Amino acid sequence: MTTLTKLKSLALAGVLTGAMLAQTGIAQSVSAQNATPMPRLESREGHHALIVDGAPFVMLGGQVNNSSNYAEPLKTAWPVLDAIHANTVEVPIAWEQVEPVEGRFDLSFLQDLLDQARAHDKRVVLLWFGTWKNTSPSYAPAWVKLDNARFLRMKDPQGKDHGVLTPLSSATLAADSRAFVKVMEYLRDHDRQNTVIMVQPENETGSYRVPRDFSAEGNRLFAQPIPVALASKTGKSGTWTQAFGAQAPRAFNTWYVASYVNAVAQAGKAVKPLPMYVNAALAGPSNVPDPTGVASGGPQWDVLDIWKAAAPSIDLAAPDIYDRASANVIQYLDKYNRPDNALMVPEIGNAKDFARFFWPTIGRGGIGFSPFGMDASGYFNYPLGARGIDQKELATFALPYATVGSIMRDWARIAATHPTWGAAKPDDGADQSVTLGQWRITASWGQWQFGMKDWTWIKAEPAPWASEPVGGMAVAQLSDHEYLVMGDHVRVSFSPAQSRDDGVIVAVEEGTFRDGKWVTARVWNGDQTDYGLNFIDHPQVLKVTTGFYRGKRR
Ligand code: DGJ
Repeated sequence: MTTLTKLKSLALAGVLTGAMLAQTGIAQSVSAQNATPMPRLESREGHHALIVDGAPFVMLGGQVNNSSNYAEPLKTAWPVLDAIHANTVEVPIAWEQVEPVEGRFDLSFLQDLLDQARAHDKRVVLLWFGTWKNTSPSYAPAWVKLDNARFLRMKDPQGKDHGVLTPLSSATLAADSRAFVKVMEYLRDHDRQNTVIMVQPENETGSYRVPRDFSAEGNRLFAQPIPVALASKTGKSGTWTQAFGAQAPRAFNTWYVASYVNAVAQAGKAVKPLPMYVNAALAGPSNVPDPTGVASGGPQWDVLDIWKAAAPSIDLAAPDIYDRASANVIQYLDKYNRPDNALMVPEIGNAKDFARFFWPTIGRGGIGFSPFGMDASGYFNYPLGARGIDQKELATFALPYATVGSIMRDWARIAATHPTWGAAKPDDGADQSVTLGQWRITASWGQWQFGMKDWTWIKAEPAPWASEPVGGMAVAQLSDHEYLVMGDHVRVSFSPAQSRDDGVIVAVEEGTFRDGKWVTARVWNGDQTDYGLNFIDHPQVLKVTTGFYRGKRR
């Protein structure tokens, strides 16, 4: 073995870090060797797919805590991510760490992140904490935070500074974009294998309490007609107030925040065109929010059209879900699942009652899901998420991830082209149903695997999970008579949709996909199918073949 070959094989085995390689000068050639096609988002006929390494991919993610963007705390994430069978980690990188002194850039954490992620076989979604982090400029460098003459804050209606940086400042935009571009250049030069598959420019944008910038410039722009692109997207016209009434300050701020983030994303994509998305601090699943009580400007579901018109470089907007009410979660999923917006849940609480919502997310064709706070750095965001992460908590996320993970590429491919559906156990425990083709598929909850709820001839203790907020399932219709079904803590039953009495389950095969082809491991029958298909705590994938015995064969 030549020294170069030896170094390269050590590098590929993860023994040498990128920084060590950079010194040897072979980093470029190693990563060039591993170059893969650029990740991208594909949308067709209402279906969306995240394409990674040239094929559809589902992000089984976990987001680390905010301050885990340093090499040491990041190390605590990997055992947690491995325990839940995650394939992707979402990690922040902060403007203050990239450019602590203006014009001097330090990308060392990015290299640490790439090295650690590769060694642990995870893909990365990179979160750029820049002008906005939960609306605040807390992650901007001190030289930005403290220069109120150059990097202007929003003004409130009385002309006083609001804490949030204004989206109307070209100086702030130029500075933020410059640093973001450095990050993207580093990825272009050191991540040819696309360990980083997606980027989130900024985090939970907008501003609370002050719905727009009331500075002189803000007031001047607010009196103008709405932009042409917005008028043609929404069919509205006139000034902001004429077009949006009581929501005008918020619509205005949304346009300018979205335009700003778009410019940051566009500059980054010009360097490396990774998919880019924005995340929303949610203000309710069905109400039109009070402009002063919401992150005004952020990508709430009710202003997505404004984001779409202002930010063509943003591939999707996504909900950060910390609401435990099941009906609200389902509404959020439906609001962000649009023909022009791929569904992805980049943050959801890491308490065990949130895990069930993985199923309706992927059942809606969601491209990714990621509980928040998935490291062992010692911090927990209870009551948003868990009080602490124990094995039980982790197992709740691990089971659906292991199940879908076992056929991840196949599920992603199927979901991009076939009808799919998913359900989580609702708070009231009611059955959930869908009709796909000629069959009605019903999910019911909290039952043992054997027998029926209404049996009186034999007594049974309630199933231990009957009172727990756990359980979910997803189904894909493979053809007019075949279905793929997965789930946990759920009973899935099939019945003919048009009350035909000659419908039969022809076969229930447990198996997996190999090279894209279904491979049967065993056939379920007898007790395993007489009382529905009962998924409890094993990662199992079933292919169900149905038929009708009168008339046509199927
Ligand atoms: C949503 C934000 O996007 C996260 O960074 C974090 O602050 C959570 N809220 C709360 O833990």
